[in-house]
Amino acid sequence: MSKPYVFITRTLPETIVEPFRSSLDIHMWPKTEEPVERSTLLAEANKANAIITMLSDHIDEEVLENAPRLQAIANLAVGYDNIDINLAHEHGITVTNTPDVLTETTADLTFGLLMATARRLLEASDYVREDKWSNWAPLLLAGQDVHHKTIGIVGMGRIGKAVAHRAQGFHMNILYHNRSHDEEAEQQLGATYASFDELLEHSDFVVCLAPLTEQTKHMFHKASFQRMKSSAIFVNASRGANVVEEDLYEALVKGQIAGAGLDVFEEEPIHNDHPLLSLSQVVALPHIGSATIETRQDMMKLCLENIQLVLDNKQPKTKVTI
Ligand code: DGY
Repeated sequence: MSKPYVFITRTLPETIVEPFRSSLDIHMWPKTEEPVERSTLLAEANKANAIITMLSDHIDEEVLENAPRLQAIANLAVGYDNIDINLAHEHGITVTNTPDVLTETTADLTFGLLMATARRLLEASDYVREDKWSNWAPLLLAGQDVHHKTIGIVGMGRIGKAVAHRAQGFHMNILYHNRSHDEEAEQQLGATYASFDELLEHSDFVVCLAPLTEQTKHMFHKASFQRMKSSAIFVNASRGANVVEEDLYEALVKGQIAGAGLDVFEEEPIHNDHPLLSLSQVVALPHIGSATIETRQDMMKLCLENIQLVLDNKQPKTKVTI
């Protein structure tokens, strides 16, 4: 019997893929850095039994309506807003993501981004590299304390809790906002539930970790930034489209908030003419929340395992259920 046809939209390391080749007929887009061309994605999805996708691939009606054999889509990310899940389910396609394996790594990056923004680490590093360091001065590149401050986490899921755990180590007061109360967050992490507006008003650091959905899209806008403290720092490590970027820019320029640490943007990649990059109080990263070698390898293995399980008519380890 012929092996099921699997298409992966980037080149993954052969050491990860090789163990699956005995049971799967694996084909990969031959580039690691550049996304698959749309025409190739459409042609490959048309013949594939399963595909492994990246968060930059749009798996929409055009792809799904022309994929007669497709049984599984494994997204190499915990977020899956790039996939039309309802339509995939209508077509009987199982969609999987990569939760858990990236939780701690993404929490490390989120907290690091918060620290880097508060303590102006990138500005300070540039200052040394640009040979501007001529003297010690009492307020040279002075930032803001992180310890004993209030952190407000919007989206207290797995990553939110892992960030809260780090915040405990910094003796921070932890507020959170979710659709509903979370007992674990309250009892084990000492976090206090707040309405969205209360959280904005009382937090020194507002951290967005909410998944992108119709409800969360553009939830941070002009009025949200106006509610925040003028000393507040906004951190986004979930999805850029949760924020109205023009409103964030305006809030920063007007001094309505003090800074922003951003790992994600509405349209990725951004380029150096993006208005937010003109502001020294913005730390911008290229969507590297889960980007450590160990975690990315675990994510790749999980995608392959999930696909193998679905094609063997078994339950995948991390199925998206909505
Ligand atoms: C995810 O997995 O959704 C993250 O954004 C990747 O860093």
